[in-house]
Amino acid sequence: MHQNVEKILVSEEEIIQRCREMGQKINRDYAQKEPPLLVALLKGSVPFLAELIKHIDLDIEFDFMDVSSYAGTESTGEIKVIKDLDRPIKGAEILIVEDIVDTGRTLKTVRELLLSKGASSVKVITLLDKPDRRVVELEAEYVGFTIPNEFVVGYGLDFNQKYRNLPYIGVLKEECYK
Ligand code: PRP
Repeated sequence: MHQNVEKILVSEEEIIQRCREMGQKINRDYAQKEPPLLVALLKGSVPFLAELIKHIDLDIEFDFMDVSSYAGTESTGEIKVIKDLDRPIKGAEILIVEDIVDTGRTLKTVRELLLSKGASSVKVITLLDKPDRRVVELEAEYVGFTIPNEFVVGYGLDFNQKYRNLPYIGVLKEECYK
């Protein structure tokens, strides 16, 4: 375990097992539909996307978006699109892939944006959900793990861009971020 990690909240084995279960659920849910276009939000979602897609046996495609909140206007949920999707999404069945839903602002805004561009459906899959932190109404269709309001890192989640490479979800020691 990393020296700055206080405890492991979700182990690598648990993440892989949960990705398998969610992948199988997606296989069933989209069996009679167009295969989804997975839209992963950079950068935190990358390790989760990489594991999840191994367990999906539909003819999916995936693409990336990078968005950021406008400084000072966080409460409005306004976002700046730093990297957009490579192709039009009119009529697409979209599944947004996220590492964590926190306040819910990012996903609420991205979901509305993709719907406004003509997607047929926009669903959300997140590895982690922190419902205690929610400030806007946002419910992900697929949730890996619901976690308490602790400072977590690893499996894509960072503190100052570090720790994304840890193969588990860990609670960061308080002295590291205070
Ligand atoms: C994190 C996370 C979500 C968002 C969740 O991204 O990946 O996108 O914050 O927060 P919210 O529910 O309060 O909107 P971040 O902007 O830190 O980018 P990163 O993925 O590159 O770490």
